[in-house]
Amino acid sequence: MTRTIAVTGAAGSIAYSLLFRLAAEASAEGERIRLRLLEIPAAVERLEGVRMELEDCAFPALEEIAYTADPEEAFAGVDAAFLVGSAPRRPGMDRADLLEANGRIFAEQGRALGAGAQPDARVVVVGNPANTNALIAAEHAQRAPRTDGGVLSADRFTALTRLDHNRALAQLAARTGASVESIERLAIWGNHSNTQFPDLGGAAVAGEPAMQVLARVCGGPDAAEAWVAGDFIPTVAGRGGAVIEARGASSAASAASAALDHLRDWTHGTRGRWVSMAVRSHGEYGVPAGLISSFPCVVDADGSARIVEGLELTGEQRSRIDASAAELEEERQTADHLGFL
Ligand code: NAD
Ligand code: LMR
Repeated sequence: MTRTIAVTGAAGSIAYSLLFRLAAEASAEGERIRLRLLEIPAAVERLEGVRMELEDCAFPALEEIAYTADPEEAFAGVDAAFLVGSAPRRPGMDRADLLEANGRIFAEQGRALGAGAQPDARVVVVGNPANTNALIAAEHAQRAPRTDGGVLSADRFTALTRLDHNRALAQLAARTGASVESIERLAIWGNHSNTQFPDLGGAAVAGEPAMQVLARVCGGPDAAEAWVAGDFIPTVAGRGGAVIEARGASSAASAASAALDHLRDWTHGTRGRWVSMAVRSHGEYGVPAGLISSFPCVVDADGSARIVEGLELTGEQRSRIDASAAELEEERQTADHLGFL
């Protein structure tokens, strides 16, 4: 089966890593893909260069590479879409500025996806503010008339918090001296922002509770708690800003890598392992319904993603999740006032 995958912002930094790795991975797996690249009119001509380079890699998986500045053309019949294209945050910009700059893009692209994508298409929003952009796109997709009379469900719109998840894995692995693949049940809750909650409450390192392992390496349970609250959480939550500061540009290769992890796991399943995905809330863990918030998720072998349910939360976990959900609610209201919902 050949999958058709759209990538927006295809002449940008993240896409320059994502497109080549996507094609390389598909080739290694013996898959076939068609790429649809979308850019703004001012940048679309650069996509000829991207197309030439993709062609020059001679990836066996690549059946077709098409590019356009028309969202309807880009999304017609797609099985998956990475919505990357948007203005990145620059030093000094806050999320409200970003929402104002980028909300319109996601309204338009949500409509085009709703009208033309496969009814079970998977949408991964990377462009910031990713959760609320995904919410805007999902809302507009619902209203788009389709010739087949169906609807692209809002549940098919997700936002990327896998980068935060991977950052958290790396920090915990470095502190404990364990390998990243020995870490399980780590979760990112909430918004892809500083209010996110990287949660080690249920996490295990090589089968042992992470807090127990940390107590050993930090010199006791109090020191472990202090490391989590004073170092781990702020480092993970502030990593995007730290990369901008250090690099003079927002993270690109790591974001592309995480976006690929997200779609691969959502498509092929996680074999019981937890991954973090920002998905539409139906009220789970008190997160207001309709918000697109990060949760610990598992994906079954048939590609159906579900939020891990039934976790007992402490007061501390509860209040951190509530704080990030409150920020998402505020963003929803801002998007509404700006006329994007
Ligand atoms: P970039 O500026 O290098 O590239 C963005 C591209 O998007 C540009 O080529 C631009 O022309 C294009 N674009 C703008 N509007 C468009 C539209 N309407 N349709 C199609 N293309 C459009 O930026 P980048 O570094 O690739 O980052 C892209 C986005 O990803 C930013 O919003 C950034 O903040 C976000 N990001 C998210 C995460 C995450 O974990 N969720 C991580 C890193 C970056
Ligand atoms: C990141 O997490 O690296 C990006 O979302 C950049 C940002 O604006 O924080």
